[in-house]
Amino acid sequence: MSKTLIPKINKAVFPVGGLGTRFLPATKAIPKEMLPVVDKPLIQYAVEEAYAAGIRQMIFVTGRHKRSIEDHFDTAFELESQLEAANKKALLQVVRSIKPDDMDCIFIRQPSALGLGHAVLCAENLVGDEPFAVLLADDLMVGEPPVLKQMIQSFSTAPGTVLAVQEVPREHTSRYGIVSVQGERAYAAVDAIVEKPAPEQAPSNLGVAGRYILSPGIFQSIREQPRGVGGEIQLTDGIAGLIGHEPVYSLRYKGARYDCGSKEGFLQATIDLAMANPELTQALRDHMMEILSNP
Ligand code: UTP
Repeated sequence: MSKTLIPKINKAVFPVGGLGTRFLPATKAIPKEMLPVVDKPLIQYAVEEAYAAGIRQMIFVTGRHKRSIEDHFDTAFELESQLEAANKKALLQVVRSIKPDDMDCIFIRQPSALGLGHAVLCAENLVGDEPFAVLLADDLMVGEPPVLKQMIQSFSTAPGTVLAVQEVPREHTSRYGIVSVQGERAYAAVDAIVEKPAPEQAPSNLGVAGRYILSPGIFQSIREQPRGVGGEIQLTDGIAGLIGHEPVYSLRYKGARYDCGSKEGFLQATIDLAMANPELTQALRDHMMEILSNP
């Protein structure tokens, strides 16, 4: 009996071309994906998640502020030689581990911020005809195993397009792509997806987080859609175009998501990750106790 060959996910696309207006003025000269949570920029958390899922080819779709991300994943000869001369071995290791030797980084420009679907389309020639992952670094995911790895595990049981979903409060449906799914299983077939519906129009309260495995059919599907919500070329509309033609699944992942594109989510991530860092836990706890006891 022949076994169906499950394609491997080799490539991850990081759309980092958004304007990040909610974080102005911080994002005037740097992309929001370079904002640090504790001591690492958001983009590094996302790249580490993809690497932990076995992916080695990282494709960054950049906007106006390309340099800082490119520099972050490049070798810093001067810094490394200074750390070496000062015998700061631990810091040297921290700097070198940003880009492991077996990881490739490729940068491509999104000429203007026409929407997430357009950003994905910009990666078409680099991705080619194979399924690939998309990670939005402003969604910081904490999961064990890492969320993208959970998705690849599900993909290997039934390949297709896979959307990471979580239950969201009804009143927040207009912040998300919302899916309706068949049945109650964690890995379920998607019937419909709508971008940012009002609560009364939302088909469910399952919101899509910024992690996707997409079939290469997505490129043609995005091209076929008219401009969507906000006049943007929406990834959600491209995914909607796949439903009924190709398998599309959602996975209720295990873990936490921080919307670091919003100030509230960014601060929550900073507090939670700092509290989980043994070097910072006690000092932060003391500080918060002091604030809370002297409101
Ligand atoms: P957002 O919807 O958060 O938009 O994008 P934004 O422009 O980055 O931020 P605000 O709303 O103005 O504060 C979601 C993701 O899609 C990427 C962003 O970089 C972010 O990772 N994106 C969005 C692009 O790469 N290109 C686009 O044209 C739009």
